[in-house]
Amino acid sequence: MEKRFFFALLLTAVVNASRANDVSFDQNYHITWGNSHVTSLNEGREIHISMDNVSGAGFQSNARYASGFFQMKLKIPNKDSAGVVTAFYLIDNKGEGDHDELDFEFLGSKGQPCTLQTNVFANDKGGREQRYHLWFDPTADFHTYGILWNQHQIVFYVDNTPIRVSKNISNIGVNYPSQTLVIQASIWDGEGWASNGRKLDWSQQPFTASFQGFNVDGCQSLENSNKEQCYDSSLWWNGNTYWGLDPAKQKALEDARAEYMFEDYCSSKEGKYGHKECQINTFFY
Ligand SMILES: *[C@@H]1O[C@H](CO)[C@@H](O)[C@H](O)[C@H]1NC(C)=O
Ligand SMILES: *[C@@H]1O[C@H](CO)[C@@H](O)[C@H](O)[C@H]1NC(C)=O
Repeated sequence: MEKRFFFALLLTAVVNASRANDVSFDQNYHITWGNSHVTSLNEGREIHISMDNVSGAGFQSNARYASGFFQMKLKIPNKDSAGVVTAFYLIDNKGEGDHDELDFEFLGSKGQPCTLQTNVFANDKGGREQRYHLWFDPTADFHTYGILWNQHQIVFYVDNTPIRVSKNISNIGVNYPSQTLVIQASIWDGEGWASNGRKLDWSQQPFTASFQGFNVDGCQSLENSNKEQCYDSSLWWNGNTYWGLDPAKQKALEDARAEYMFEDYCSSKEGKYGHKECQINTFFY
């Protein structure tokens, strides 16, 4: 009898653990705009946000965070969607002029691979775009997009592959995101800057992006005052294995950059002279 009781306990623990990775949208997020353009499926385990000529839509985390490994599964609109931006990002949305932001932005596609752009804003300074054509079609299936953010580095992951690293090099005067940030996702009309000169094809509307994975591995921080607790090394994403990339991940990053990145702010003249980190060749290492 004792044994059976123990087994029952064990089973409960396993079930709870799997549920933690599969929580409903409402537990950590809420819709911020375009309510009528949001659909919830599978008891909130999957959310669809769509854009048509009336509205786009967006959602946001209930909490603010100061460190974490933020991951979500995305599938972007599976049709000619040049000019339709699907975004997943961390943002300081307080509008106080010291803006921090970490972005994944899909710029849509039309007869060519969909572009994935990443950007990093720190203390109001952005202009750090990098652009990729991925090694798979992001409109065909769900893939995991992740942002690791601790005191030492920010790493953008596509599935398990790091595609971008920003080191904390504040010691040489390059600002590093330090605000508490919310997680946001949205779909919106980016014709003009995202469509590469092509007109948005409204005959294709609505454009729908799908999201899964509403569990958050992040350290909640109410305001900037109690951030220190989020730098504690007992939080797994702050552990020293996450202070830099191991050799295999480093190689994966270099390969991805060489094969799939087609635009890098550090390669342009403005980028090179406007950003101190572009003058340090150890920035990505
Ligand atoms: C939006 O699209 C619908 C369907 O094509 C069309 O009937 C409507 O006139 C459009 N509205 C605007 C404001 O363009
Ligand atoms: C960046 O690194 C410095 C140490 O060089 C540290 O004191 C600071 O807290 C870090 N900044 C953030 C926002 O993590």
